[in-house]
Amino acid sequence: MNILIIGSGGREHAIAWKVSQSKIVSKIYAIPGNPGISKEKKVENFEIENPSIQDYIRFAKSKNIDLTIVGPEAPLVDGIVDEFKKNNLKIFGPCKAASQLEGSKSFCKDILNSGKVLTAKHETFTDSISASKYIKKQNMPIVIKADGLAAGKGVFIVEEEETALKLINDLFTGNADGISSSVIVIEEFLKGEEASFICLVSGDSIVPLASSKDHKKLNNGDTGPNTGGMGAYSPTSLIDEKLANKVIKEIIKPTLYELKKRGIFYSGFLYAGLMIDKNKNPYVLEYNCRLGDPEAQAILMRLESDIVELFLSTVDNELEKIKILWNEYASCTVVLASEGYPGKYKKNIKIEGLEHEISGTKIFHAGTKFENGSIYTNGGRVLGVTALGVNLQVAQAKAYDRANQVSWEGKIKRHDIGEKEIRGKFIFS
Ligand code: AMP
Ligand code: GLY
Repeated sequence: MNILIIGSGGREHAIAWKVSQSKIVSKIYAIPGNPGISKEKKVENFEIENPSIQDYIRFAKSKNIDLTIVGPEAPLVDGIVDEFKKNNLKIFGPCKAASQLEGSKSFCKDILNSGKVLTAKHETFTDSISASKYIKKQNMPIVIKADGLAAGKGVFIVEEEETALKLINDLFTGNADGISSSVIVIEEFLKGEEASFICLVSGDSIVPLASSKDHKKLNNGDTGPNTGGMGAYSPTSLIDEKLANKVIKEIIKPTLYELKKRGIFYSGFLYAGLMIDKNKNPYVLEYNCRLGDPEAQAILMRLESDIVELFLSTVDNELEKIKILWNEYASCTVVLASEGYPGKYKKNIKIEGLEHEISGTKIFHAGTKFENGSIYTNGGRVLGVTALGVNLQVAQAKAYDRANQVSWEGKIKRHDIGEKEIRGKFIFS
């Protein structure tokens, strides 16, 4: 089979790495891919300047692509799946209407409320006067979210009323660090432990992936601003079998039912970002219509099954035939980022030490570029250093050993990925 992978991040590198191991795949194209992706077997990167959906369609036809896999959310929210299907091209991912679960926080909340799914209490606003009035009646901290996609940067947890009022004004006028929104969601701050519940979905069939936990905050001890994710591990004790069954019954199924009532069929990865309270009740913080990044790196490192068969079963609506196999190891991904991220950061800094190897580890590229025989930084999150171990402690130690072999000026990382799990420090432990 010929495969096309759309995207250029660490998640897409992890997907490409797994796809390249599939016996039924002969050729993989990545648009645009990254230097790590192009080094995988069978892979060729392709650059198209500002590709439109029609450009992807033309490419898929010209290269006889049998299956296209969409990594990031933006093309899904733009409707790439609908357009591919109109052209009789096979593509993995949810359609435009279903992708609104991620693309529009207000749509997502509407589905959650109709399905009586636990989520933070919230209100949606389109003007700063009513939003400010509402803020004045709420307890702090409070969570303010820009509607629409913002690569993990459109969510603000605010401790003081004055800051909240200023932020609302800035969001509506486009002065909030480049993020502007005509619709904002204000919601109650939930306390608890976060975990990622990601499944493959095709209509009524739901197949959960291995459990995982991301570390969204920039700094150690879950402090500092939100990021796209600074590290992840799998599995997590936060989601035991009992909780997984509860999430499927009380969250995933009602969500799919509500979509179905609106005539929307879900197919692809469905990612529920959960906050688990001290009584082990899972609340939905957000839905994503794709794999998590860096969760994908940690999860796919443990996948034994052929990922292309999983994609095909989903697209062909035959998920009930699938049993996913995982290795028995724990995995840990440490993100190496550029100083300044998630705000402004420098690019084009030479990365050293990538050639070192430690068995059972893998470096997934995210924001890198290749020039004159060397690899340079080219983004906020640069690399996802991932390791397997007989338990999380071993995986974590190996991931940090390998992460420490890599260097560039301005490299930053968290030092505590997986630490709470290892030390049993969760609120209900
Ligand atoms: P979201 O994009 O909605 O998942 O938000 C990004 C991150 O912000 C989440 O992973 C949480 O760490 C945090 N967050 C979002 N909503 C809430 C909430 N209601 N209470 C506490 N933290 C939240
Ligand atoms: N790691 C969080 C996300 O992919 O949205």
